[in-house]
Amino acid sequence: FVHQLADPQVNLDTLLRSPLQPVATMKLALPARLYGSERPNSRGVDLNVAAERLPLVEALKVAPAAPVPDASVAEARAAMEALHAAQPAWNDVPLAERCAVLQRTADAMEAQLPRLVALLAHEGGKTLGDGVAEVREAVDFCRYYAAQAGQRLAPQALPGPTGERNELRLHGRGVFVCISPWNFPLAIFAGQVVAALVTGNTVAAKPAEQTPASARAFVELLHDSGLPRDALRLLAGPGETVGAALVGHPRCAGVCFTGSTAVARLIARTLAAGDGPIVPLIAETGGLNAMIVDSSALPEQVIDAVVTSAFRSAGQRCSALRLLCVHEGIADGLCEMLAGALQELQPGRPADAAQSWAVDVGPVIDAEAHAHLGRHVARLEREARLIGRTPLPEALRDTHIAPAAFELAQVGDLREELFGPILHVVRWSGDVDTLVDRINALGYGLTLGVHTRIDERALRVAERARVGNVYVNRNMIGAVVGVQPFGGEGLSGTGPKAGGPHYLYRFCGEQTLTINT
Ligand code: SER
Repeated sequence: FVHQLADPQVNLDTLLRSPLQPVATMKLALPARLYGSERPNSRGVDLNVAAERLPLVEALKVAPAAPVPDASVAEARAAMEALHAAQPAWNDVPLAERCAVLQRTADAMEAQLPRLVALLAHEGGKTLGDGVAEVREAVDFCRYYAAQAGQRLAPQALPGPTGERNELRLHGRGVFVCISPWNFPLAIFAGQVVAALVTGNTVAAKPAEQTPASARAFVELLHDSGLPRDALRLLAGPGETVGAALVGHPRCAGVCFTGSTAVARLIARTLAAGDGPIVPLIAETGGLNAMIVDSSALPEQVIDAVVTSAFRSAGQRCSALRLLCVHEGIADGLCEMLAGALQELQPGRPADAAQSWAVDVGPVIDAEAHAHLGRHVARLEREARLIGRTPLPEALRDTHIAPAAFELAQVGDLREELFGPILHVVRWSGDVDTLVDRINALGYGLTLGVHTRIDERALRVAERARVGNVYVNRNMIGAVVGVQPFGGEGLSGTGPKAGGPHYLYRFCGEQTLTINT
């Protein structure tokens, strides 16, 4: 019926003016619904089975990993030379063997799931559900890029009118510098590194300063799975020193970076300033991600999607929802439901075995992030209307930010990407195209959510929006490798999309071989 309405906006407002569900009945079944085994794409434990959860809790009790020492600038430079020397030999390893290393690494990760999840909880503050999803994503990256490499990297004959034999051949470019973020210390690190390796590059990997142990665990698994020692070096340390030494080194043949837009610009400037070869940059950066909810949307579905998108992983995902745009016809009711849902979230310490599965929202990554978010919340408290906030026990005040939603007057009031569990809400009315244009004008282009029961509108919004990933009538995080290629445009990055069919090509050099026969 709703699809047949001539003017859905007006008519559906009337249709849906029936009373919204009272807040008391909006007990979201956390964590089972949000943190259960929702990803069907790879092998793994079924988190809804209690027995499967126990090994993960037991693993938390093992002492966290030893610290990873920082590399010096001299070590970083020496590593670049060694990796440069080792690259031709690694490039010559048959493609099938390079792919097999990735598959064995994936097997090893699956076998060591509890240990890896515990490491992510201790080092990155990840909930156990997030940890399992992250290990699965790392496994998926290994298997997917291995499969893609097998299909796409073989020499390709190009028959044509020249009467010659033409062939396109792909090879590693040289030493790739991979710089990864703390919010997916295993999955994004793994995705970058294996993409660069399988295409025949050697790799200097610099993990985020906050999470080097998760990166080291992956590097060890790769080496144990047969990767030659000299094909990959882990170089932990600050971006300002170690990162700069790697990116600015004359042997650097490509950079794959995931992190802030500001640092991506800095890397681009460094690369442009060198007087050696032109070095490509693959950058995946931030997002000021919006969700558009029209008056035909299903309120319960919207609230479920909003809570997952804005507050899961304590909002520390580049895909996370920052700006919820609700049609004014349903805004009061939705805000009331949102306030109720916020009361239900459980903040806590996932690495504490006694809490573990009960935790929905872990800490923010470090004291600097905590202070930054705290200042933003204080400003919102002065300038915006508080819609609702999760109660935060006193003991968590120094490490956690209480999930909260604030109402702003307009889309343009939000300028800065905030990496935490803070949701901004605006009301909209009138033409949805104008709203999409305002969202586009923010300059980012990563994810966008749309909630509507009018298919035509969803497609129109997707067409007009300048974003990489559009999600309709669901949450907007957790892109699945291979089927939901992930990455944006504008201030959100250069592409290509991680976990997509074009990704590996950007790590390759190409040679056309023409033989006069
Ligand atoms: N790939 C992640 C997601 O889709 C974000 O980094 O949520």
